[in-house]
Amino acid sequence: MQDLLNYLEINKNRFLNELKEFIAIPSISTNPENKEDVQKCANWASDHLKNIGMTDVRIFQTEGHPIVYAEWSGAKGKPTVLIYGHYDVQPVDPVELWESPPFEATIRGDNIYARGTADDKGQVFIHFKAIETYLKNYGSLPVNIKMILEGEEEVGSVNLPKFLKENKELLKADLIVVSDSSMFAKGVPSICYGLRGLCYMQIDLVGPKSDLHSGSFGGSVHNPIQALAEIIASLHDKNGKITIPGFYDDVLPLTKKEREAFKKLPWSDKKYAKELGVRELYGEKGYTTLERLWARPTLECNGIWGGFTGEGAKTVLPSKASAKISMRLVPHQKSAKIAKLFERHIKKIAPKTVQVTVRNLHGGEPAITPIDSPGVQAAVAALEKGFNKKPLYQREGGSIPIVVEFKKILGLDTVLLGFGLPDENAHAPNEFLNLDNFYGGMRTVVHLFNELPNYLKK
Ligand code: BES
Ligand code: ZN
Repeated sequence: MQDLLNYLEINKNRFLNELKEFIAIPSISTNPENKEDVQKCANWASDHLKNIGMTDVRIFQTEGHPIVYAEWSGAKGKPTVLIYGHYDVQPVDPVELWESPPFEATIRGDNIYARGTADDKGQVFIHFKAIETYLKNYGSLPVNIKMILEGEEEVGSVNLPKFLKENKELLKADLIVVSDSSMFAKGVPSICYGLRGLCYMQIDLVGPKSDLHSGSFGGSVHNPIQALAEIIASLHDKNGKITIPGFYDDVLPLTKKEREAFKKLPWSDKKYAKELGVRELYGEKGYTTLERLWARPTLECNGIWGGFTGEGAKTVLPSKASAKISMRLVPHQKSAKIAKLFERHIKKIAPKTVQVTVRNLHGGEPAITPIDSPGVQAAVAALEKGFNKKPLYQREGGSIPIVVEFKKILGLDTVLLGFGLPDENAHAPNEFLNLDNFYGGMRTVVHLFNELPNYLKK
């Protein structure tokens, strides 16, 4: 083991330079202009996987972006771990708020800054280097490895379930490991056992058939922006509860035990508010912040547009207004059912003065993974060795919709082994990965491969 840890230490700088190359390819999955970059990034990952010694490396084309598959199966009679991650990234706007260019990974202090450092190229890369460490030093690994890297996680993993269904045999494994979440705090490693689901909707309102002079016509028609604002404002009551009828029907209430466990975690609302730059926190009454973040459903307006938003002033009564609204879901809510409830409710409350269209953009189901499984116990042991600290158990507010599909289609549990940090600016300007987590993550994964055969006896 010491040889392996030494190898990680000696090669630190090279690893950073390689990560910079991976980061430099702007694989923004939602942006059609970056389609070729997404393909280039898949090629880069596939070449890299070949270079570190993975034997069966292939790129599967899909109706959307490609899936990279890689395998090393030289550990006869030993368990197989299937590592999942994503090489696509979120858009970078507003680009002017970045302190260094979003695709030029830059080290400042203890962090490396760029789009994709934490979510998720940097975390995927941690696995690449743990694998390389074994293969370059020993020519073998203590477990068999399969890997799938997708290019559509940030747009709802639309083509991945089909790939799983069509390749069940190829993907046979004992356990899935995903590093696409955060540790509880700096220096506090954690195992995540719950993710929220998602239901992402768009509302489009049309009022008059074209934009109107707001002086000549203001007072005679309902401004669609006002109508939209009224609709959105009515979706929460004064206690921060969502007003869509039936929305909470399937919500699994928090157990007393879990509430107590959350209360024991080191947490300060005051510190959290300060870090976020808000004077006060907001949320559903009757729940603590961690409960609201991890185990209660929410509704957020992600964007709203319409009318004149340019420099200066233009007196216009717009024809159209739109909003994107996402709901985070918890067990046992179902994304498709929530989408129907949302659509029915919006159509019911929309005033007669406007035409309304409601669209379901994408969704995913919430996940809870068992914490007493042998895979999780191996990860706990590995984290303790990698970070010199016992990890704690936490849930997360974000979504990785494929986790539920792994269970449904492949019958496999997922261990969520995150190396990001809660303030990593994922999906925002100045995303970063902490370097201690980068190297601690590599040590952890090296230990994990070593531990897994002891926990998952074949
Ligand atoms: N890495 C995140 C998921 C995540 C975020 C896990 C925070 C734990 C904490 C992932 O890349 C992501 O952003 N997922 C999307 C999924 C959506 C597009 C279906 C999300 O949560 O918005
Ligand atoms: Zn993301």
